Amino acid sequence: IPDYKLVPHKGFNLISGIHSPEEVEQIQNWKIRDTDIFVITYPKSGTIWLQQILSLIEVKGDATAINDQLTSERIPWIELMGSEEKFVSAPSPRIRVTHLQYKFMPLGLKKKKGKVIYVARNPKDVLVSYFHFHKYATMLETPKDFDTFFEKFMEGNVYGNCWFEHIKTWYSHKDEMNFLYVTYEDMIKDLWSVVEKVSLFLGKTLTPQQVNKVVEHSTFKNMKDNPWANYQMIPRSLLNHQHGTFLRKGTIGDWKNYFTVAQNERFDRAYQQEMKDVPLSFIWD
Ligand code: PPS
Repeated sequence: IPDYKLVPHKGFNLISGIHSPEEVEQIQNWKIRDTDIFVITYPKSGTIWLQQILSLIEVKGDATAINDQLTSERIPWIELMGSEEKFVSAPSPRIRVTHLQYKFMPLGLKKKKGKVIYVARNPKDVLVSYFHFHKYATMLETPKDFDTFFEKFMEGNVYGNCWFEHIKTWYSHKDEMNFLYVTYEDMIKDLWSVVEKVSLFLGKTLTPQQVNKVVEHSTFKNMKDNPWANYQMIPRSLLNHQHGTFLRKGTIGDWKNYFTVAQNERFDRAYQQEMKDVPLSFIWD
């Protein structure tokens, strides 16, 4: 197992062993095609969910056409080592995901080439999901307890850094890009409408029956049971399957089971302060 550590690069934490600062620096120069699609998330906000939905939209809901490759390999992370080579030679449409901050993005995206989908989730649930992921992911340091992790998250001392900075920066630049904003909570409440909205944004016309199929194969239960989409085949050097499950709970409001009253008040104060000029709101329970 490599020596995984958070290593800051231009104010953003990379993970040694899976990321290379030199390669991340090159991403800005990647040549973008109009058909490229980038999904942007802060960790634990619904990345795998979008990977599954986009895979299914491409094949109009026919799950048999995609259940021969890991969802996370079909739609890979751009920040992982060795991504550029695969990106350059891949046929269109090239669909990619990333947790990177805006400043590392290919410049072409900012000239309205390609498409960008930003997926956001209420940050209290992100924090709880990320806490569990830290116990499970071999490349992240296991937190001593929830309180310790709460502090780390508030300090932005995690992969993805500060949640507020991530969303604020991306969102404030949205008009430079072909940009769609979706939330995890909207997907929980009405997956059908989000799938339809995403397909329209991508210029894919799906029949209602095809949307039904996409939805059916992206429910929490069906993904949890689907070895191509549930990460169970990822090796132990990355995920320790004895200490967690990737599709863990899949709900809104789990933070209430973890936050103390004091932590919640502190979080709310930070949220109000940081988000006061941002026209976004979240469903918290
Ligand atoms: S990562 O590591 O950043 O790629 O994680 P990410 O995929 O962004 O987020 C994982 C959380 O998303 C939940 N999830 C879902 N919820 C509802 N329905 C579906 N289909 C679904 N797929 C993934 C997953 O369970 C993680 O959240 P928690 O709260 O831990 O359950």
